[in-house]
Amino acid sequence: MTNNKKQVAIVTGASSGIGLGITQALLEKGYSVVANSRTISKSKDLKPSPDLVLVDGDISKKETAIQVVDAAVKHFGRLDLLVNNAGIYLPKPFTEYTPEDFETTIRINVGGYFFVTQQAVAQMRKQKSGHIVSIATTLVDQPLAGAPIALAVITKSTLPAFSRALAMEYVADGIRANTISPGVVDTPLHANDDHELLKTLNPLHQLVQVSEIVDALLYLQSAPNVNGENIRVDGGAHAGAKW
Ligand SMILES: NC(=O)c1ccc[n+]([C@@H]2O[C@H](COP(=O)([O-])OP(=O)(O)OC[C@H]3O[C@@H](n4cnc5c(N)ncnc54)[C@H](OP(=O)(O)O)[C@@H]3O)[C@@H](O)[C@H]2O)c1
Repeated sequence: MTNNKKQVAIVTGASSGIGLGITQALLEKGYSVVANSRTISKSKDLKPSPDLVLVDGDISKKETAIQVVDAAVKHFGRLDLLVNNAGIYLPKPFTEYTPEDFETTIRINVGGYFFVTQQAVAQMRKQKSGHIVSIATTLVDQPLAGAPIALAVITKSTLPAFSRALAMEYVADGIRANTISPGVVDTPLHANDDHELLKTLNPLHQLVQVSEIVDALLYLQSAPNVNGENIRVDGGAHAGAKW
């Protein structure tokens, strides 16, 4: 363990897209980071360093959650920020979802936040400080005719309520919990999708950039009175019915 005066963060799903952008931004801001994904040690973008520890593993498994939080404490001595970001998106017409689709999505999108947050809260309570930010999706606030999103809604709509519940349960321990709900973000998740079509899902007719999710996270980190909040970064999609 080092006597670390830097802020210490864990980012799940850090090998790609939003998680990668957040990890790189936190490192640039001087954080020490534990970055997790199932294949993070194979990342071409992230290499281990004195300020970056990579932990491979499925974050929906309790043993991975324990390893990730243990790594933060062992290498950096504390944990200030958990970014719950690892997630999958499996769009299908509702009636076509299989039991395996259901089990996998619940396991990763809910279990992948549950166990690591338990471990993080236990450490943050010892410190009497900490911040948990969960990445949800604005789709749950603005379903669109014909869009096959039922499984995403079942798993991701819980997250703003989860953050509010934790924000209140642990307010006396100095722990905050907030949510960021992106619209469609330009990440590898949409590599094979029609980007022109995706742009029409945003009233500004553009894809959200990873840097905008990073900005929302850095704002939340800088705002001690913002707690239980859900910041939507979606061009206003949640606000309107037609555009
Ligand atoms: N892109 C969008 O339009 C959008 C919109 C709203 C919300 N979101 C949410 O934002 C989050 C990140 O999305 P993204 O677009 O950045 O996706 P992405 O580019 O596909 O990245 C997903 C990340 O999650 C990791 N991951 C997947 N399953 C995992 C597991 N079981 N354990 C650990 N890591 C796992 C992946 O790495 P490995 O394969 O190495 O495990 C990867 O690093 C997701 O929760 C997604 O639902 C995205």
